[in-house]
Amino acid sequence: MSTERPKLSVIGTGYLGATHAVCMVELGYDVIGLDVDEEKIGRLKKGEVPFFEPGLPELLTKHANSGRLRFTTSYEEVAEFADVHFVCVGTPQKKGEYSADLRYVEAAFTSLAPHLTRKSLVVGKSTVPAGTAARMEKLMRSLTPCKDVELAWNPEFLREGFAVEDTLRPDRLVFGVHSDWAEQQIRAAFAPVIEAGTPVIVTDFATAELVKVAANSFLATKISFINAMAEVCEATGADVTQLAQAIGHDARIGHRFLRSGLGFGGGCLPKDIRAFIARAGELGVDQAVSFLREVDEINLRRRARTLELGLDLIDGTYRGTRIAVLGAAFKPNSDDIRDSPALDVAASIGRRGGDVVIYDPQAIENARRVHPELIYVESLDEALTGADVTMVLTEWDEFCSMDPAAIGPKVAQRNIVDGRNVLDPVQWRKAGWRYRALGRP
Ligand code: UGA
Repeated sequence: MSTERPKLSVIGTGYLGATHAVCMVELGYDVIGLDVDEEKIGRLKKGEVPFFEPGLPELLTKHANSGRLRFTTSYEEVAEFADVHFVCVGTPQKKGEYSADLRYVEAAFTSLAPHLTRKSLVVGKSTVPAGTAARMEKLMRSLTPCKDVELAWNPEFLREGFAVEDTLRPDRLVFGVHSDWAEQQIRAAFAPVIEAGTPVIVTDFATAELVKVAANSFLATKISFINAMAEVCEATGADVTQLAQAIGHDARIGHRFLRSGLGFGGGCLPKDIRAFIARAGELGVDQAVSFLREVDEINLRRRARTLELGLDLIDGTYRGTRIAVLGAAFKPNSDDIRDSPALDVAASIGRRGGDVVIYDPQAIENARRVHPELIYVESLDEALTGADVTMVLTEWDEFCSMDPAAIGPKVAQRNIVDGRNVLDPVQWRKAGWRYRALGRP
């Protein structure tokens, strides 16, 4: 096998894997992507990205006919083709438990290993509890006919909405390896990124696994910190957005991830901090991360508080009211509704008897699948028409730039809940709206 330009496979073509596969082709590699979901593979083969990610469709189209990117459902084909295999499958939260469900990771290793007949490197990218890599190495070695197969762990830090940029130009690369050979191979698989000056940190398996959960725990904690300050601001009449602005100028604190509001959701931050709590418990160090329970609770309280802000505007009951919910995705520039705070609030209002009308530029289809009982519309205009309360729950540009004077005549009552602290209260109040936000007077 040449260390110059190894051939790559990507196992699991969800948000992470599909992006990784396409970006690696862009970086000059020959890549094969595998998924067990035939429909997903069928769409990728036709040049369609099965989810919304800015910039990715263009890149897929660019490389679709290059002959350097293909997709399959066959592990045999993948093992035959590639020298370095990236495992990018999901690790969702187990139902009714805090811990991560590792069945897809285990299935990927179990399915790939028997087909590995020559020396190759398998690289885990999925977010996993510490100790998983060592376990997967054992599992793989027990199943592969080639005893030279090695494992590396390479956590992924991409953000949805910026996935292409984060993959092509990451902040850092973390390589958890057990041998010089594995380090050489993984360096060869990221050569253009390393040549561009990206910092590389080479670690053992456990550190590589922990880097990822530690990073996401820190980000979640930062968001919950500012949201805890929002609670104190409400009790004192202070404005959390000004407070964040002021403390963020201290370079040691910084402005990023200090946006207060409805809090964090998505397929990563919430389940990662819970899986970390569960794993720390197993390791006997639960006290070390017990603060993460508080981080989670502060975050969930934001949703309850947003419901109260709406109620405050309509005499204490949602029954018989029409509520325009703007946003269903867990954040803008995504169609992902996994643990979406916006959708959670919308569903709660629905359960309380409100007529919820939801508009989101990209996430309607996904939202409808999970909450078919709610009403979905195709435009902002339709959502606003006749609304008793309008709630901005995901900060898409289209919502941040609404003109309160222009949209005033469309709604039944000028009541706005700014769930993401993105509107100017002065401007909205001047246009006759009653304005409520989390942590702002
Ligand atoms: C997150 C991490 O940021 C990535 O580095 C990581 O790779 C990824 O998880 C993962 O583990 O795969 P992502 O889930 O795409 O990325 O979303 P973020 O941009 O981190 O946002 C998470 C949530 O926090 C969103 O609901 C967002 O609205 C919320 N948020 C973010 C805030 O409420 N305030 C902020 O200041 C920033």
